[in-house]
Amino acid sequence: MQLFLDSADMSEIKRADDWGVIDGITTNPSLAAEQDRPFDKLVAEICDLVEGPVSAEVVATEYDQIMQEARQLDDISEHIVVKVPLIKQGLKAVDELSDEGIETNVTLNFQANQGLLAMKAGATYLSPFIGRLDDRGQQGLQLVEQLTQIKHNYGFETDILAASIRHPDHVLQCSLIGADVATLPFEVLESLYDHPLTDSGLAGFLEDWEESGLEI
Ligand code: G3P
Repeated sequence: MQLFLDSADMSEIKRADDWGVIDGITTNPSLAAEQDRPFDKLVAEICDLVEGPVSAEVVATEYDQIMQEARQLDDISEHIVVKVPLIKQGLKAVDELSDEGIETNVTLNFQANQGLLAMKAGATYLSPFIGRLDDRGQQGLQLVEQLTQIKHNYGFETDILAASIRHPDHVLQCSLIGADVATLPFEVLESLYDHPLTDSGLAGFLEDWEESGLEI
């Protein structure tokens, strides 16, 4: 399973990229709005740094404007994946963008039938929002399971990109289900490294080594 970082914060992106574990970046308008700088410059900087797909979202909701914004975003870098909301006009644009060879990430997927439509439109990535479903008392992971099943039933090439990840168990469950990608907030990514027995075990090894006087 590929791991993307869900962030528009350059300091987080630089740190995660330095760990060598992330395969790409996803942003959304809310994350970008937290950064006090022009969107195109921010996205270009992310693309320069990260060797992998970088999702940048359109904010138009009508077909012509979505296409215009999509082409503008696509011009920024070869790394750009155009993120498009799962609405009728959005999927119409995804169908055309797919024909033009422009990669897309269909976002705000909360239901398997919506996902089926996005796959049929030729989405490169499809983003089910797990955490937001859980927040409503629904089973976000069940959606990932259903989408993965649909993808394999019909051989769709769309990558299932689990989004709105809240905690490490979401990541584990997505990998067991067989999601293609999970996009993680920085805090969740960092927490994947942690276990208290790793810390105490390392401290013990180093203490014993120090006391022995051995050298490498
Ligand atoms: O970027 C899309 C998604 O990951 C948003 O997550 O935490 O705002 O539900 P969240």
